[in-house]
Amino acid sequence: MKFINKTILLLFGCSIFLSCEQKKKDFDWESYSQDPVIEGKVDSVLSLMTLEEKIGQMTQFSGHGTLTGPQINDDFKEYLEKGQVGSMFNVFGAEGLRKLQEQAMKHSRLQIPILFAADVIHGYKTTFPMPLAESCSWDLELMERSARIAAIEATSAGISWTFAPMIDIARDPRWGRVMEGAGEDVFLGNEIAKARVNGFQGIKSYKDFGDIHTMLACAKHFVGYGAAEAGRDYNTVDVSDRVLRETYLPPFKTAVDHGVATFMTSFNTVSGVPATGNKYLFKDILRDEWGFKGTVVTDYTAINEMIPHGYAEDLKQAAEKALNAGIDMDMNGAAYIQNLKKLVDEGAVTEGQIDVAVARILELKFLLGLFEDPYRYMDTKREAENTMTEAFLAEALKGAERSIVLLKNEKEVLPLAENTKKRIALIGPMIKERKSLNGEWAIKGDRSKSVTVYEGVTNLYSNAKFSYAKGANLMGESNAKEIQKAVRVAQNSDVVFLALGEDFNWSGEAASRTDIRIPKAQRELMHAVKKTGKPIVLILLNGRPLDLSWEDQNVDAIVEAWYLGIKTGDAIANVLAGKYNPSAKLTMTFPRNVGQIPIYYDALNTGRPFDQNNPQDYKSFYLDVENSPLYPFGYGLSYTSFEYSDLKLSSEVLKGGSAIKASITVKNTGKYDGEEVVQLYTQDIFASIAQPVKQLKGFQKIKLKKGESKKVTFDITPDMLSILDINNNIVTEEGKFKVWIAPNSSIVQNEAIFSFKN
Ligand code: NOJ
Repeated sequence: MKFINKTILLLFGCSIFLSCEQKKKDFDWESYSQDPVIEGKVDSVLSLMTLEEKIGQMTQFSGHGTLTGPQINDDFKEYLEKGQVGSMFNVFGAEGLRKLQEQAMKHSRLQIPILFAADVIHGYKTTFPMPLAESCSWDLELMERSARIAAIEATSAGISWTFAPMIDIARDPRWGRVMEGAGEDVFLGNEIAKARVNGFQGIKSYKDFGDIHTMLACAKHFVGYGAAEAGRDYNTVDVSDRVLRETYLPPFKTAVDHGVATFMTSFNTVSGVPATGNKYLFKDILRDEWGFKGTVVTDYTAINEMIPHGYAEDLKQAAEKALNAGIDMDMNGAAYIQNLKKLVDEGAVTEGQIDVAVARILELKFLLGLFEDPYRYMDTKREAENTMTEAFLAEALKGAERSIVLLKNEKEVLPLAENTKKRIALIGPMIKERKSLNGEWAIKGDRSKSVTVYEGVTNLYSNAKFSYAKGANLMGESNAKEIQKAVRVAQNSDVVFLALGEDFNWSGEAASRTDIRIPKAQRELMHAVKKTGKPIVLILLNGRPLDLSWEDQNVDAIVEAWYLGIKTGDAIANVLAGKYNPSAKLTMTFPRNVGQIPIYYDALNTGRPFDQNNPQDYKSFYLDVENSPLYPFGYGLSYTSFEYSDLKLSSEVLKGGSAIKASITVKNTGKYDGEEVVQLYTQDIFASIAQPVKQLKGFQKIKLKKGESKKVTFDITPDMLSILDINNNIVTEEGKFKVWIAPNSSIVQNEAIFSFKN
């Protein structure tokens, strides 16, 4: 049997795969850095290299594919032949990459292979749901598998390094890049960082980096990028060291602990110092505290950007600051290639510093096996066999179904059975929209292949009578005639499926918004359709939490479908018909309006907390809107209902070095079989540092048949309750703790108290 078939078997059938993965040990960085074989090989290459060749290794050139910034290094061919290209990105396909590699191998003096990279974010050819959507599945194995499939496809097409996962905690839905991450929560962010790193890299030891079906991952963007002021991309970040360490750093530490091979800098400043020139971040924390031994690449032209940041006088000084901060590779900025030699000549930096960076890059190339066979990832036959296979597409459908969050379902308008004979009005610009369905980062996903809502729904409902009106464009002004036509279509129906949302360019990089409602023309369409009095199922395709306050009051059902990738329409149809009972839950809070932002569930209390049931003046509240979010973190409905009862603790005292058990009975009290994400939250009621009102500490996604009950048990151990004390030590302080087991972060029933004693 071919290896790939074995891999697919492991991915899809075999529970052994999952249990092995769960038991996987943290990565052993120590043995990596001290491996005499690799060190010897790296040293022998390094000793042959000229300074110019070394600096070339530290340079990453962009081809002419997807550009996310200015194209600074346009003349890569010349550098390729001189052996001065360490890595390339935005170039694709086994055949094309083979040609580029051949050019380097034929002409360059030392024949050092090029390392090819790409933004393989949520799939390569087979496009999976955007990462934020996928995170709503709370299904770590699913996320690991989709990353692995992306790796299998991309490595077959010549790429052995992805700029993913994006593990920035994000709490501001104005910021378009929330779509690329795992939402607002640190605990879940850690779990997902681990799943995605394992998915791309699939390794237990650095020796496995060379597996042909896995690729190097890149933890990005280090760090604080998600905290851009006012949600404007690339904007200033102002975080205290505490917030940095409690909120933004943990997923990166998790990635290091699980062997992530590379890191990417972020564009923003941290405490006034651009991350790309920030020694505190890259030397003190990443290398010294955490022991990271891999390679650091800048984000796109981020060294150059230190000039407008006002942190470097010119590009030469910017290059010096980046190297001194420990940045190994310059993405498309030409800062290193144009300046490092001069800086060495002037004595501003040393060749020794350059050797350290180059050694890290060469090490990756050795580990990938590129020195043995520079073409090992460029096999057109393997590419053809491993692209959009039936198994991959089936997984994409499963992932899409599991990412859809049901936000509202009144009068049981859903599910609408597959064999219905009803007249269904299909209205809205997202009904037939195809190109947006893959979302922003569908790197090589063919946008013409994604299944539209129209196709999915009309394929599934064979007895229904459909009528269609677009009603409005995704953007721009409304058109009265189009709206009237849509209203007529609605009037002649029994139920309206109204599909609205954001054009895919409205989220992702450089796609910030100050108004996070559904765009205006679409709102006008919706208001007009509402007046017909017909039941409305609102299907949303968008990249960020939206302000859905009006919709929550005025439509009958809301299906948050995000951008789901290649199988969008089929997944949505399956959910509407109840062929798949929705089980996803939000990983980012939906605010009532933009003025509540930032709003996230694990906030600190104030000294004057407001009680909605006993409102008083001079408390912490708004005059014009409730404090609570519209839909909280962890929220999502099912077609069935679940009842939580009988929360029990095995002891009221937790002792150092031991564990107590918290358990609850969850009963499926509705009419359908379903899945529920049971969530464990705790609060350290009083501590030496004020702690959030609650924090997620565990979850289990369980299946329950109609009428079935299950006891769900969590272990609570002292390390789960640890905090960062005033001196940045991780400690668990004695005292009282609250615990909740709940269906989402806003539910306060089923609460218990226990004490921790050392
Ligand atoms: C800029 C983005 O910030 C980063 O996430 C991406 O990997 C690079 N461009 C390369 O496309």
